[in-house]
Amino acid sequence: MRSAAWFSAGGRAGMIYRSWLQSEGFTPEVFDGRPVIGIANSWSELTPCNAHLRGVADAVKRGVWQAGGFPLEFPTMSLGETLMRPTAMLFRNLMAMEVEETLRANPLDAVVLLSGCDKTTPAMLMAAASVDLPAIMVTGGPMLNGKFRGGDVGSGTHVWRFEQEHAAGRMTQKELFAAETGMARSCGHCMTMGTASTMACLAETLGMQLPGSAAWPAADTRRIRTAHQAGQRIVELARTDLRPSRIMTRQAFENAIIVNAAIGGSTNAVIHLLAIAGRLGVQLSLDDFDELARPVPTLVNLMPSGQYLMEDFCYAGGVPAVMSELVGLLHTDHVGVTGHAMADTIAAAECWNRDVIRPLADPLQPAGSGTAVLRGNLCPDGAVIKQSAASPELLRHRGQALVFDSIEEYHVAAADPSLEVDESTVLVVRGAGPQGYPGMPEIGNFVLPRKLLERGVTDMVRISDARMSGTGFGTVVLHVAPEAAAGGPLALVRTGDWVSLDVPARTLTLEVSDEELTLRRAAWQPPEAQFSRGYARLYVDHVQQASQGADLDFLVGASGAAVPRDNH
Ligand code: FES
Repeated sequence: MRSAAWFSAGGRAGMIYRSWLQSEGFTPEVFDGRPVIGIANSWSELTPCNAHLRGVADAVKRGVWQAGGFPLEFPTMSLGETLMRPTAMLFRNLMAMEVEETLRANPLDAVVLLSGCDKTTPAMLMAAASVDLPAIMVTGGPMLNGKFRGGDVGSGTHVWRFEQEHAAGRMTQKELFAAETGMARSCGHCMTMGTASTMACLAETLGMQLPGSAAWPAADTRRIRTAHQAGQRIVELARTDLRPSRIMTRQAFENAIIVNAAIGGSTNAVIHLLAIAGRLGVQLSLDDFDELARPVPTLVNLMPSGQYLMEDFCYAGGVPAVMSELVGLLHTDHVGVTGHAMADTIAAAECWNRDVIRPLADPLQPAGSGTAVLRGNLCPDGAVIKQSAASPELLRHRGQALVFDSIEEYHVAAADPSLEVDESTVLVVRGAGPQGYPGMPEIGNFVLPRKLLERGVTDMVRISDARMSGTGFGTVVLHVAPEAAAGGPLALVRTGDWVSLDVPARTLTLEVSDEELTLRRAAWQPPEAQFSRGYARLYVDHVQQASQGADLDFLVGASGAAVPRDNH
């Protein structure tokens, strides 16, 4: 065991390692060579989606002790999507770096990763990939279905809907207050197929979570039992040295892209999977997402693409039931943390609700309706659009751009009843990419101009270098790369330019001549640096574009789990 370098050491060093741990009340038997299992806990009261993870950690510990391991829980940085400013995404790489260094610096043989809210799952997977110690992820599970006036309301998705209703004058502030109390009625992460649910499902598909565990609601005791089983299983993984690099292979990522299309998963999955793959040296490109997703229909009828919520998805059979439908498209010999091929998981899968998880022959949306990758002179390094959450009639659209250099500038204009805009306008917001904001916030599905909402307009083509919440919807082109702040063509668009979007042809075109764009580029000035020091400075100087996963350039790749030098 790796931990023997600490606990089997002789002399002063070994005494220091063992003695101080005994101050926590552990008896000397824990140093007998058994696997030492870290429990990386992103619990925080500042991260509501992860606030219940201490209870989950207790269950993991029971499993570890039962299987003959020695569990040591430790806190990690936590990223709460709802509270952190300017955006939790700014800190995903910082959390990944913090977890990676904590794992490597300590006497751990394997780790259980406890995550939940959007960025905590990819950050922990990135860390685990770069250290490459045996690891199992246990996500905290979704909230129970939100309820308001007798119906289901989805976290995030209904926030956007209610915001539009309120802006259009069809919902009062008092009604909004009533809705918000019913929307979050248990512990857990967002219960739509937003980014947290998506990443939980994809962690399971990648083979890093136990089968079925992505969907158990946070309040369901099966979540706790799964955590206990993960504690048992990680001891075995430590003994057999089954590492993330053997689990998260190219095949695993291909499966994840296919499942992401079938579940109507978040566009954020594109960025996170690229970043995780980058840590492992797995060759994955933006175009893989389009090519692999094209033959895949949307099967899962969950908000924001569909009607139901994660609790329903759980009762319908969860990820294994989806994989069972996709069996002809997936790599079924891929081995996950169970140590068994996916084919075994799929063979045991059953679907209990065909309206929630549709059969391949009767999908929610046809093949090719998932996240599409666009190219063109406006996005030479790519952009994405979630077709299943867009308006079909807008997927081919030509309109004149109305351009804003920041989301704040847009919000002021959008509230102005005299704004010159109609439903054919293409709304462009820039300065919201990884470098530009910084951190690439989820503002891509910005609310429509008030005067159009009052006329009953519900969707328009919107283009930005931002991301969109996985719970969001609309005909929104996201992740335009290179971003405006990096001098991408998005920086050169002017109000009145014609822009054409052709999603079936996968193109996004700025109808301005190359000569004119060359003149505009010569006159373009990069934005002034917002930060002179600190993490934000480091981030802006080193963040990669969305098309590469928005990781920091010096974090790409792995350093392994070699035991660091002894300072005693
Ligand atoms: Fe944490 Fe949605 S805010 S998952």
